[in-house]
Parts: sequence; structure tokens; C-alpha cells
Amino acid sequence: MTNEANKAGALVIVGTGIRTVGQLTMEALAWMQRADEIIHLVADPVAEALIAGLKPGKEFTLQGFYSEGKPRAESYNEMIEFILSRVRAGVLVCGAFYGHPGVFAYPPHESIRRARAEGYAAWMLPGISVEDCLFADLGVDPIGGCQSYEATDFLINRRILDPSSQLILWQIGVLGHWTYRRSGYDLRSLPILLHKLLEHYPPTHEIVVYEAPIFPGCAPAITRIALAQLASVPLSGASTLYLPPARAANPDYRVLPYVPTNC
Ligand SMILES: C[S@@+](CC[C@H](N)C(=O)[O-])C[C@H]1O[C@@H](n2cnc3c(N)ncnc32)[C@H](O)[C@@H]1O
Repeated sequence: MTNEANKAGALVIVGTGIRTVGQLTMEALAWMQRADEIIHLVADPVAEALIAGLKPGKEFTLQGFYSEGKPRAESYNEMIEFILSRVRAGVLVCGAFYGHPGVFAYPPHESIRRARAEGYAAWMLPGISVEDCLFADLGVDPIGGCQSYEATDFLINRRILDPSSQLILWQIGVLGHWTYRRSGYDLRSLPILLHKLLEHYPPTHEIVVYEAPIFPGCAPAITRIALAQLASVPLSGASTLYLPPARAANPDYRVLPYVPTNC
């Protein structure tokens, strides 16, 4: 929270987790109750029902800012402006976003930045993200290093990939698209991504298409395939790609002799 805030109106951004039942934190719930209004973009009907029950008539979904063929960046800017318009009206706004609100999520960060620039108190609380669920469901630990990229960003930029680390590619199901499509996305860029990955991994390397459950008691969808099969499995907007390391890390022999072995 900024201490310089000097205007009526404030913004607290919270995450509702991937499944609200069990993953909504007590702190987030407390701010949702305390806020005058909740403006939300959540992915499960439990979160929607909870929010509707907490603030009847004072909750607004941001879903309507998406529309067929519209650039997502345009929708995001409209969402941010809507959130800001309520803060400027002197309201304590709680922005509720699924997962962690600061992980692969532009409107929460940018709303806070603009609110602070205009002199309003604005801050974010952490939530449970897809990545947190993935580490639990796949039984993997990022201790040996974990690279995490938005799939299209990874495709179009020369990112420095270390195949001795784990790799997580987000938004694989919307690869190559900057616009919103209700009916799904054609993934014609997938073979190009595959080609790029094959420069670093063998075609037989086992990878995972992962989908975390949004309801408690449901199993995660974990599809293990050889990398070469990537273009032949169904992917959705809720798919995340996980690649385990393909080789051991290279020791740095310039440093190794000077590091105590008992540390
Ligand atoms: C815009 S990001 C939002 C991430 C979210 N803020 C978080 O904290 O996890 C959307 C991407 O998250 C991943 N995602 C969303 N829901 C998921 C789920 N149920 N299981 C696995 N990945 C999911 C997908 O990669 C999807 O394209």
C-alpha cells in the first residue's frame, strides 16, 4: 500500500485461487467483505456465486469486455479504465482475479500502477496460481530452476532456454493469437513452436499437458506425451505445458574448487 495516498477511493486486488473452495485466502475474503464493490474476472462458478452473495448489486464482472475477434489488449485497457473509474468515484474497490492476480495478468498490475500514479492507495494480495497447483499435482519442485514463459512470447522472442531447468509454457492453447475467440483457437503456430523446442529436447522427451481442477475433489488432467506428439493433442485455454529437464546442469569448474563441499 502506498503511504502517499491522499484521495478517497482505493483499490485492493486479490486472487481467488484456481479453485475458490480451499484456495481463497482468509485475507482475500476479508478484503472482499470490507470493500464497497467487487470487480471480478474469475474462472469458476463457485467464485461467481460467492462474490454475488458477498456484494449483491455491488459486484461487476469484467467478462463483458471480451468480445469475438477483439484484441485482448484492448479489452484489458477497458477493464483497467472501468476499475479506475470506480476508484475515482471514491469507492473502496476490490478487484478479484482467478489464480494469483499478479501472475500472467496485466490488468491487475496496471490498475494498481495507474491508481497509485493518480494518488490513490492501491495494493495486491497474493493468491494460489496455476504454477502452485502444478508443482503439487505433478510432484515437481522448482529447486533445480524453472523457466516460465507465455507460449507466444517464447515463440516469437529469442529467449535463452536452459534445458537443464524445468520449463513451463502458459497460454499454449491460445498460441499465436492476440485476439479473443469464444469458439476456440486454431493452433497453426504449434508446429513452429515444436520445431523450436526440438532444437533443445529430443523428440521422445516426455512432456505434460496440465489442467488444474477448478472444483475440490476433482482430479487434475495430466496428459503425458512425447514432445514430438505436441501438435496432436487437444489444448484448451486452460492448458499449461510442462517440460521436465532434459539433462543435468553443467557444473561451473571455474567456481567449483572454491566452494566448500560442506555448504
Ligand atoms: C492469463 S493466465 C492467468 C494465470 C493466473 N493468473 C494464475 O495465477 O495462474 C491464463 C493461463 O493460465 C493457465 N491456466 C488457467 N487455468 C488453468 C487451469 N485450470 N489449469 C492449468 N492451467 C491453467 C493457462 O496456461 C492459461 O492460458
